[in-house]
Amino acid sequence: MNHLKAPFVCLLVIFLIGHSMAFAHERNTLVPRGHSKYIPSPIPDRVMLTLTATPHNSQTVNWRTSDGVERSIAQITKAHGRPGLHLSAQTIQGNHEVVQTENGQARYHRATFEALEPNTLYAYRVMGDDTWSEWFQFQTAPKDNTPFHFFYFGDAQNSVRSHFSRVIREAFMQNDRPAFMLHAGDMVNLREGNHDDEWGEWFDAGAFLNAMVPSAVVAGNHEFVNRPLRLRRALSPQFAPQFSTPNNGPEGFEETAYHLTYQNTLLVVLDSMNALYDDEAAKIQADWLDELLDESNHRWVIVSHHHPIHSVSVGRDNPVLREYWQPVFEHHGVDLVLQGHDHSYGRGPSAPSPDGNRAIENGPMYVVSVAGPKMYMIADENNPNMQRMAEGLQLYQTIEVSEDRIHFQAWTAAGELYDAFEIEQGSNGEKTINDLIPMDRPIHRCANPNKPEADRCWDGKELISLPGN
Ligand SMILES: [Fe+2]
Repeated sequence: MNHLKAPFVCLLVIFLIGHSMAFAHERNTLVPRGHSKYIPSPIPDRVMLTLTATPHNSQTVNWRTSDGVERSIAQITKAHGRPGLHLSAQTIQGNHEVVQTENGQARYHRATFEALEPNTLYAYRVMGDDTWSEWFQFQTAPKDNTPFHFFYFGDAQNSVRSHFSRVIREAFMQNDRPAFMLHAGDMVNLREGNHDDEWGEWFDAGAFLNAMVPSAVVAGNHEFVNRPLRLRRALSPQFAPQFSTPNNGPEGFEETAYHLTYQNTLLVVLDSMNALYDDEAAKIQADWLDELLDESNHRWVIVSHHHPIHSVSVGRDNPVLREYWQPVFEHHGVDLVLQGHDHSYGRGPSAPSPDGNRAIENGPMYVVSVAGPKMYMIADENNPNMQRMAEGLQLYQTIEVSEDRIHFQAWTAAGELYDAFEIEQGSNGEKTINDLIPMDRPIHRCANPNKPEADRCWDGKELISLPGN
């Protein structure tokens, strides 16, 4: 090595060491480098129930196997207490598609159970190559207006197995069987490393709950992956194959915008990512929602999308959503809007906005929440749009729905009630909102003495780095 090259090589080595340490610092899953935990196999995994448009009489299941499993077979029977479920089971033929992932080629299967009876417990299993999954059980929706409750989760996104798992599991431990779960987007990060490991961790976090409680999923910005040549981001290749949404949204947004009816409640999911890309996507969805709500005679309407109408955290604002969507929500008296993205908690009714879009009396309660460990700072503790806020808290929400009341509660990952309110609706449709905030809990502020950035309490990924990284 000559004298000229030596300093260059030293600099290169220093750069590479620093780069590898930085990369280690940014690890987003618990899978050690060089290991493969989530390679698809002949044994079914990632078994997932997603809500159909009519959950009182149908249910879709998705699952994953290695590519060699070319048949998509499921069995279903009414659940009973005896073994030998296969004796009464009906065999269903589904369909499948092949997906290329960082963990190899996988086959994603789907089957829909139809002509089910309302309010009935069913047992089902799905087939792999010369083997089956275990028998899982799910409950169809009642047809009448029996009170029900569901879970709502904000962004899981980073260190999902390490940190989101306790949130979804604690929600399960603290509550009776929920009717369904709502994930309001950014379930994973999908920006660097092995994206399929992140999906593997998301499925591990919910574990058997994903196969026994149906979910509604919202596509956030992190469900979209970058494409070369600065083309618009594309939906993660796993998203549609693993989440069979009702596919009844406006043309061009069938996978990410949809509606379903759970008893007396209309749940509508919108695609805010594409809405923020171009106004036309926002308008198409607004027009579709307007028409849908014109025809709706549901007692309650709940809308979910990822980016908030009213932002909570520093430097974040989505005026396009207020321009196109908020007037539709308020014209039709939408009751609740459940969102994510801001990595903080905020909840309030319509109020004056930066662009002067003021509330009308019939407006919904808007909620932003976060379930994973990535935490941003709230913009202003006097935010006029928010009645309750938090930073640095992992939360899950339980929402009880009955004929005349929605009871909303936000719980910390440690099972402490942080926020609550109720919406009461009279027989004439008039609504009253009552705050039920626990008075012994002041606004929660970031407690991390080593904030990674001024507007960030935690990045989330540093929480699983090894000592010294
Ligand atoms: Fe987001």
